[in-house]
Amino acid sequence: MSITGIKGMNDILPGEIATWQFLEREAHRIFQAYGFREIRVPVVEKTDLFCRSIGETTDIVEKEMYTFTDKGGTSLTLRPEGTAPVMRSFIEHKLHAQDPVAKLYYLGPMFRYERPQKGRYRQFHQIGVEALGVEDPKIDAQILAMLCHYFEAVGIDNVELHINSLGCRECRPGYRQTLVDYLDAHIEVLCSDCQRRYRTNPLRVLDCKVPACKEATAMAPSVLEHLCASCEDHFTQVKSYLTELDLSFAVNDRMVRGLDYYTKTTFEMVTSSLGAQNAVAAGGRYDGLVAELGGPPMAGIGFAMGVERLVLMKGETPLPAPRPQLFLAAMGEEASRRAFLLMSALQRRGIHAEMEYAGKSLKAQMRRAGKLQARFVLILGEEELARQVAPLRDMDAGTQQELPLEGLADRLADALADDGICP
Ligand code: HAM
Repeated sequence: MSITGIKGMNDILPGEIATWQFLEREAHRIFQAYGFREIRVPVVEKTDLFCRSIGETTDIVEKEMYTFTDKGGTSLTLRPEGTAPVMRSFIEHKLHAQDPVAKLYYLGPMFRYERPQKGRYRQFHQIGVEALGVEDPKIDAQILAMLCHYFEAVGIDNVELHINSLGCRECRPGYRQTLVDYLDAHIEVLCSDCQRRYRTNPLRVLDCKVPACKEATAMAPSVLEHLCASCEDHFTQVKSYLTELDLSFAVNDRMVRGLDYYTKTTFEMVTSSLGAQNAVAAGGRYDGLVAELGGPPMAGIGFAMGVERLVLMKGETPLPAPRPQLFLAAMGEEASRRAFLLMSALQRRGIHAEMEYAGKSLKAQMRRAGKLQARFVLILGEEELARQVAPLRDMDAGTQQELPLEGLADRLADALADDGICP
């Protein structure tokens, strides 16, 4: 019996890769234009890093981590997200000493033991950014502008930006208590999950999808009415910059995030086209996190986009395999050797050239050229070698011309680079 892949962990096949490469290329291009630099961190970290940053009572830490003990007895976890590892690396390498402001981005697989369904997987990919060292609300607006710019550039438009503020260390505890008091009075109608967690993590109840909980929290006090003056001012400035930048957004005071490190601004890019998995990107500010993980007190804000969800939204139109510019059909050993050297010379010049490696009949080679949809075919046999010319067939136009073998690689490379051919 053959071995199959792991449930919720997908292969990305050559037929799908063009969309992935496009989404990644646009991320590099756009993020770099905003001054972000790529960082790559391992996919495995010490378990404690995630418990301390994401929060012990979150779904991710309680139920979704791929945790194992390595042969040395250390508890390790496949990263469920990118922010904590990037902070760990940032602190460990003292990047704050090089520059008081760090703007970083990353791409790669993340792992969560969730129940797989459309748009939700156990290995999924994120493209994320983190900006460290700026408290000013301008950076919140800039991060959001960059996120919107990205969606525009990749042609995904059926999304909405939702923003909220979760307050800070000063004002959150007061709000938390007000919410617990409110939930206390509604405890009997809450789902069992919320009954269990409402005292340890009351904000999560606001986010519960169970209709009874939704109904019970409909009249719950709003976090936005409990912000301290500084959080309120910050949020007002973020909103006014967004308006000045001409970005549309909706304030959603019921939006809480599934990770505990957030303070002040939080946001999600949501869509109605992916069913229950409606967040295509999400993030927020985490001003206390660097210090909590042993670094200097530093502000931070970032987001991550789910690449599988972007791909689903982009529509998985399988792009055809790239078409070779030239197929070299060779007959006889010497011609095959010459064709191979010519193909190698063209490939070094960036021309997509193909040939049949082992000798086959001309008919079989032409069939292969047809299947690959090669634009041109060059035919090389003993007779051509003797005459020092080779016919080049334009497969689209159905025409043919003879080219001298002398200087052929240069001539073809020049002509094919222009995607045409000259005699
Ligand atoms: P998150 O909301 O947990 O935030 O994930 C961000 C995005 O990753 C989601 O909006 C979704 O698109 C995608 N995603 C999450 N889980 C899955 C899954 N199981 N399958 C497919 N896609 C998924 C974070 O991870 C934070 N680290 C974001 C952040 C960066 N905050 C500040 N900086």
